[in-house]
Amino acid sequence: MNSLINVKTVGTVAEGFLSFFESNKDIPFEIKRIYYTYYVPVGTKRGGHAHRELSQLLWCPYGEINVILDNGKEKKEFLLDSPEKGLLVGKGIWHDMYWIKENSVLCVAASDYYNESDYIRDYNKFLKLVKEGYWKDENKL
Ligand code: TYD
Repeated sequence: MNSLINVKTVGTVAEGFLSFFESNKDIPFEIKRIYYTYYVPVGTKRGGHAHRELSQLLWCPYGEINVILDNGKEKKEFLLDSPEKGLLVGKGIWHDMYWIKENSVLCVAASDYYNESDYIRDYNKFLKLVKEGYWKDENKL
Protein backbone atom coordinates (compact mmCIF):
# COMPACT_ATOMS: atom_id res chain seq x y z
CA MET A 1 0.00 0.00 0.00
CA ASN A 2 0.92 3.66 -0.40
CA SER A 3 3.30 3.03 -3.26
CA LEU A 4 3.44 3.26 -7.00
CA ILE A 5 2.76 0.19 -9.08
CA ASN A 6 3.46 -0.42 -12.75
CA VAL A 7 0.12 -1.18 -14.35
CA LYS A 8 0.48 -4.17 -16.67
CA THR A 9 0.58 -2.90 -20.24
CA VAL A 10 0.63 -4.42 -23.69
CA GLY A 11 0.98 -2.73 -27.05
CA THR A 12 3.25 -1.07 -29.53
CA VAL A 13 4.05 2.46 -30.60
CA ALA A 14 2.52 1.66 -33.98
CA GLU A 15 -0.84 0.42 -32.66
CA GLY A 16 -1.13 1.96 -29.22
CA PHE A 17 -1.25 0.52 -25.72
CA LEU A 18 -3.66 -1.22 -23.36
CA SER A 19 -3.21 -1.26 -19.59
CA PHE A 20 -5.08 -3.42 -17.10
CA PHE A 21 -5.27 -4.59 -13.51
CA GLU A 22 -7.40 -7.15 -11.69
CA SER A 23 -8.88 -7.27 -8.19
CA ASN A 24 -6.91 -9.28 -5.63
CA LYS A 25 -4.20 -10.05 -8.21
CA ASP A 26 -2.59 -6.81 -9.32
CA ILE A 27 -4.09 -4.77 -6.47
CA PRO A 28 -4.66 -6.04 -2.93
CA PHE A 29 -8.43 -5.57 -2.71
CA GLU A 30 -11.76 -6.25 -4.43
CA ILE A 31 -13.03 -3.28 -6.49
CA LYS A 32 -16.56 -2.14 -5.61
CA ARG A 33 -16.54 1.33 -7.14
CA ILE A 34 -14.86 3.31 -9.93
CA TYR A 35 -14.97 7.09 -10.16
CA TYR A 36 -13.10 9.75 -12.11
CA THR A 37 -12.43 13.46 -11.87
CA TYR A 38 -11.99 15.68 -14.92
CA TYR A 39 -12.32 19.24 -16.32
CA VAL A 40 -10.34 20.35 -13.28
CA PRO A 41 -8.60 23.73 -13.80
CA VAL A 42 -4.79 23.57 -13.67
CA GLY A 43 -3.48 24.54 -10.22
CA THR A 44 -6.53 23.18 -8.43
CA LYS A 45 -6.00 21.17 -5.26
CA ARG A 46 -8.52 18.40 -4.52
CA GLY A 47 -8.62 15.63 -1.96
CA GLY A 48 -7.97 17.04 1.48
CA HIS A 49 -9.18 14.00 3.37
CA ALA A 50 -8.28 10.54 4.68
CA HIS A 51 -10.37 7.38 4.93
CA ARG A 52 -11.03 5.26 7.98
CA GLU A 53 -11.09 1.97 6.02
CA LEU A 54 -11.12 2.53 2.25
CA SER A 55 -8.30 1.37 -0.04
CA GLN A 56 -7.93 2.87 -3.50
CA LEU A 57 -5.85 2.74 -6.66
CA LEU A 58 -5.36 6.11 -8.36
CA TRP A 59 -4.21 6.46 -11.93
CA CYS A 60 -4.04 9.21 -14.47
CA PRO A 61 -4.88 7.98 -18.01
CA TYR A 62 -4.17 11.43 -19.41
CA GLY A 63 -2.23 14.38 -18.04
CA GLU A 64 -0.19 15.05 -14.93
CA ILE A 65 -1.41 15.01 -11.35
CA ASN A 66 0.78 15.37 -8.29
CA VAL A 67 -0.36 13.45 -5.22
CA ILE A 68 0.87 14.12 -1.70
CA LEU A 69 0.35 11.31 0.79
CA ASP A 70 0.59 12.04 4.50
CA ASN A 71 0.25 9.50 7.32
CA GLY A 72 0.32 12.17 10.02
CA LYS A 73 4.03 11.59 10.63
CA GLU A 74 5.61 11.97 7.22
CA LYS A 75 4.66 12.99 3.69
CA LYS A 76 5.56 11.59 0.28
CA GLU A 77 4.98 13.01 -3.17
CA PHE A 78 4.03 10.97 -6.25
CA LEU A 79 3.72 12.31 -9.79
CA LEU A 80 1.13 10.51 -11.89
CA ASP A 81 2.37 11.39 -15.37
CA SER A 82 1.90 8.14 -17.25
CA PRO A 83 -1.10 5.86 -17.84
CA GLU A 84 1.13 2.98 -16.74
CA LYS A 85 1.54 4.31 -13.20
CA GLY A 86 -0.88 3.45 -10.42
CA LEU A 87 -0.76 4.72 -6.85
CA LEU A 88 -2.12 2.50 -4.09
CA VAL A 89 -3.53 4.51 -1.20
CA GLY A 90 -4.64 2.69 1.92
CA LYS A 91 -6.60 3.65 5.01
CA GLY A 92 -5.39 6.39 7.32
CA ILE A 93 -3.59 8.37 4.61
CA TRP A 94 -4.37 12.05 4.14
CA HIS A 95 -4.17 12.81 0.41
CA ASP A 96 -4.04 16.00 -1.61
CA MET A 97 -4.03 16.01 -5.42
CA TYR A 98 -2.75 18.91 -7.53
CA TRP A 99 -3.74 19.29 -11.17
CA ILE A 100 -0.56 20.08 -13.12
CA LYS A 101 -1.62 19.78 -16.75
CA GLU A 102 -4.70 20.93 -18.66
CA ASN A 103 -7.44 18.28 -19.04
CA SER A 104 -5.78 15.76 -16.71
CA VAL A 105 -8.06 12.93 -15.66
CA LEU A 106 -7.87 11.13 -12.33
CA CYS A 107 -9.39 7.65 -12.16
CA VAL A 108 -9.89 5.75 -8.94
CA ALA A 109 -10.76 2.14 -8.17
CA ALA A 110 -12.05 1.83 -4.61
CA SER A 111 -12.51 -1.12 -2.26
CA ASP A 112 -15.97 -0.07 -1.12
CA TYR A 113 -19.11 1.84 -1.99
CA TYR A 114 -19.31 5.57 -1.34
CA ASN A 115 -19.82 6.24 2.35
CA GLU A 116 -19.32 9.77 3.68
CA SER A 117 -18.86 8.46 7.24
CA ASP A 118 -15.63 6.75 6.10
CA TYR A 119 -14.14 10.20 5.31
CA ILE A 120 -12.08 12.32 7.71
CA ARG A 121 -12.11 15.82 6.28
CA ASP A 122 -10.68 17.71 9.26
CA TYR A 123 -6.85 17.58 9.36
CA ASN A 124 -6.68 18.12 13.13
CA LYS A 125 -9.12 15.28 13.69
CA PHE A 126 -6.93 13.12 11.41
CA LEU A 127 -3.82 13.97 13.46
CA LYS A 128 -5.70 13.18 16.67
CA LEU A 129 -6.70 9.74 15.35
CA VAL A 130 -3.07 9.07 14.27
CA LYS A 131 -1.88 10.01 17.77
CA GLU A 132 -4.46 7.73 19.36
CA GLY A 133 -3.18 4.83 17.21
CA TYR A 134 -6.47 4.46 15.33
CA TRP A 135 -4.69 2.75 12.41
CA LYS A 136 -2.01 1.14 14.57
CA ASP A 137 0.88 0.49 12.16
CA GLU A 138 -1.38 0.00 9.16
CA ASN A 139 -0.87 3.41 7.55
CA LYS A 140 2.88 3.28 6.92
CA LEU A 141 4.38 5.33 4.10
P1 TYD B 1 -14.44 13.76 -2.78
O1 TYD B 1 -14.10 12.33 -2.56
O2 TYD B 1 -14.26 14.71 -1.61
O3 TYD B 1 -13.63 14.30 -4.05
P2 TYD B 1 -12.19 15.04 -4.15
O4 TYD B 1 -11.27 14.35 -3.21
O5 TYD B 1 -11.80 14.90 -5.58
O6 TYD B 1 -12.40 16.47 -3.81
O7 TYD B 1 -15.95 13.86 -3.31
C1 TYD B 1 -16.48 15.06 -3.78
C2 TYD B 1 -17.98 14.99 -3.69
O8 TYD B 1 -18.48 13.94 -4.52
C3 TYD B 1 -18.49 14.71 -2.28
O9 TYD B 1 -19.56 15.60 -1.99
C4 TYD B 1 -19.02 13.33 -2.33
C5 TYD B 1 -19.30 13.06 -3.79
N1 TYD B 1 -18.99 11.67 -4.14
C6 TYD B 1 -20.02 10.76 -4.32
O10 TYD B 1 -21.21 11.07 -4.17
N2 TYD B 1 -19.70 9.46 -4.68
C7 TYD B 1 -18.41 9.06 -4.84
O11 TYD B 1 -18.15 7.88 -5.17
C8 TYD B 1 -17.36 10.01 -4.63
C9 TYD B 1 -15.92 9.62 -4.78
C10 TYD B 1 -17.70 11.31 -4.29
